[in-house]
This record gives sequence, C-alpha cells and structure tokens, in this order.
Amino acid sequence: MATFSLPANSKVKEGQTFKAPAGAKNVKAFKIYRWNPESGENPSLDTYEIDLDACGPMVLDALIKIKNEVDTTVTFRRSCREGICGSCAMNIDGANTLACLKPIDEVKGDVKIYPLPHMPVIKDLVPDLSVPYAQYTSIKPWLQSETVAPPDKERTQSVEERAKLDGLWECILCFCCSTSCPSYWWNGDRYLGPAILLQAYRWLADSRDEMQGERLDNLEDPFRLYRCHTIMNCSRTCPKGLNPAKAIAEIKKMMVARR
Ligand code: SF4
Ligand code: SF4
Ligand code: FES
Repeated sequence: MATFSLPANSKVKEGQTFKAPAGAKNVKAFKIYRWNPESGENPSLDTYEIDLDACGPMVLDALIKIKNEVDTTVTFRRSCREGICGSCAMNIDGANTLACLKPIDEVKGDVKIYPLPHMPVIKDLVPDLSVPYAQYTSIKPWLQSETVAPPDKERTQSVEERAKLDGLWECILCFCCSTSCPSYWWNGDRYLGPAILLQAYRWLADSRDEMQGERLDNLEDPFRLYRCHTIMNCSRTCPKGLNPAKAIAEIKKMMVARR
C-alpha cells in the first residue's frame, strides 16, 4: 500500500504517555493524533501502551480498547467493524486505510494514527467531510430517467450491463482515495477528487440512467474533472481494492467520444 508524507501533521509535539498495565508481556505503543478545538492548545501525539494479549487483532480493536479502558476522550468514527460503512478511515502507519481492516501485526514498531490528511479536523481522528459530501450531492448520485418505470416490475439490465457496475458499486465513500490525491489536497474546493468521480462514473455506466449527457456536461470543467493528473495514489490506497483512476480515465474517454 502506498504511503504518504503528512506535512500538516508531521511536526505534532509528543503528548502524554499512558503506560501498559503492570505485568503486560506483549506491549505495543499506539501514537494517536489528539486535538480538541475547545482546549485552545496545539495538537499532540499521545502514546497509549496496549497489551496485545488482551486486545483484538485490528487497529480499530485497539482504538476501542483505548477509549473503553484507558482514555474516554479519544475521538474517532466507526460503525460496522467490517469494512462496509467507511466511517473508520484514517491514516495508519503513513497510509490511508480503514482501521477495522488494518491488522495491528502489519505495523512494525509503534502504530502512528492520524486523521485523513489535508482535511479540516473536527476533533482527534474525525475529519470534516462536509466538502466531499456536498460534492457528492452535486453529481446527483441516484438513477435519473425520463422513461416511466414499468408498473409491475423493476427496471431491468442484462447480465453484461450489470457487470459494468462491478468495481464501482463496492465504493463505501471512505475518502481514503481523495485524501491521498495531491490534486485534491491543493484544489479540493474545485476538483471533485477520485471518490466522487468514481461515483459519477458509476451512474454514467448504468444502462438504466438516461441523463448521460447532463452528467457529462456537469463534469466538463477544467477543475471538476481535469485536475486528475494520473498520479495513481488513489488506486494504490483504496482499502476496497477499487480503481478510481481507471473510472476517471473512462469519464475522460466518454468526453472525447461525444465531441
Ligand atoms: S490518479 Fe488522479 S485522482 Fe488518482 S491520485 Fe492521481 S490525480 Fe488524484
Ligand atoms: S474508491 Fe475506495 S478509497 Fe475511494 S472512497 Fe471508494 S472505497 Fe474509499
Ligand atoms: S467501522 Fe465501518 S468501515 Fe471500518
């Protein structure tokens, strides 16, 4: 998995250390980015020593253990614990991934955990995702059709038409990809980024949708689509193994084809 430098976070000062319980034999240190906007203090990296013999195997298991047993103020999002909801996306050991799918034993040395890079932070490991969600709304992520639906059955697709959505519908909107994309770091207010563009292509590729022209018009813009420079961080980091860069290339091909 690709790793990324974290210019905004890398100079965070060391904070408190919470020692492992006496007698613990299998100790691993988790260094967690802490920032509380209400404190008025600068961010710090707090260290939590955890006995892995009394902890589940994934980084999310350690975070939950820390919150339940050591420090209830540590703040992060999570829901499904199965790689389905996308809530627990964060930067672990230098790469954006899902804490619930990241085995602790894959990390050599201390486990460093930061929020997704280059996003405003609400608190600790919780990024503010208002901008990407507004961008998601802007691509109208639902089926649009002028043809009236059959009264007695669903809108159908052939097996081949349905297969075109594979590699797209699995996206869980975790934003690991967008927050690993240098173009999105620098132009995130205007460039849609790989997660939203993959979603845009998911609807462009759907044989039941009848708004392909309008959808392409909406993307035909030097910033919204064309800030992708095929750097490929997005596809390298996706914890679901998807390929947003390919989806973006497919949109660009559709743009050329209609000229
Ligand atoms: S391929 Fe495009 S979207 Fe993906 S990281 Fe590179 S610039 Fe960003
Ligand atoms: S493409 Fe992958 S990394 Fe990007 S939002 Fe979807 S699941 Fe997450
Ligand atoms: S908790 Fe849902 S993806 Fe990790």
